[in-house]
Amino acid sequence: MRMMGERKFLIGVLGSGKGSNFAVVADACRAGTAPAEVALVLSDVADAGILEQARQRGIQARFIPPGKFRTRLDEEAEQAYLEALRAARADLVVLAGFMRVLKQRFLNAFAGRIINIHPSLLPAFPGLEAWKQALAHGAKVTGCTVHFVDAGVDSGPIIGQQAVPVLDDDTPETLHQRIQAAEHELYPRCVAAIARGQIRVEGRRVVWGKT
Ligand code: GRF
Repeated sequence: MRMMGERKFLIGVLGSGKGSNFAVVADACRAGTAPAEVALVLSDVADAGILEQARQRGIQARFIPPGKFRTRLDEEAEQAYLEALRAARADLVVLAGFMRVLKQRFLNAFAGRIINIHPSLLPAFPGLEAWKQALAHGAKVTGCTVHFVDAGVDSGPIIGQQAVPVLDDDTPETLHQRIQAAEHELYPRCVAAIARGQIRVEGRRVVWGKT
């Protein structure tokens, strides 16, 4: 629990897409269900919906060009992202559909303070379009995972998970929608727990202490 007079727990969000996860996190902060504030949203896509969603909420939103690579930030871009997050005094970096892998320098700068949401029950189906992978595999249950980010792909310690059924008549779209609905419950819950200082990492295990 943060004491009166202590400064707010500040969040920087990185996203490349429509920003529905950002929106639920920002709204939970505003509603007071998460004791935090989104200070800044950054995107590598100039016309990403997430930037618009942020602006609509009066939250600082910036497009920072990612540089010359396709799947990661180049050195100059990495520097610009880090500077923006530091200037915003971000305590936590929340990845919400950010389609680039963060490299070691970035991870070191916010060690243990970067989280991501992935649309499967990790370690099953890491990587792209996990809901399609689940369908193709014939899984009966899938879901979403919030995890700390490490140098691997979708491989860091798991903070929380929520399961959803795979139905016989699911298409990639219907399954993805059901997973996203679960994400919108899970992500604000995990962010709130981190902001409350409730979350402890013990090796690979994340322990939820009492509030
Ligand atoms: C989410 O489904 C998340 O699992 C994945 O990217 C998607 C982002 O969606 N990492 P949105 O931009 O939050 O709507």
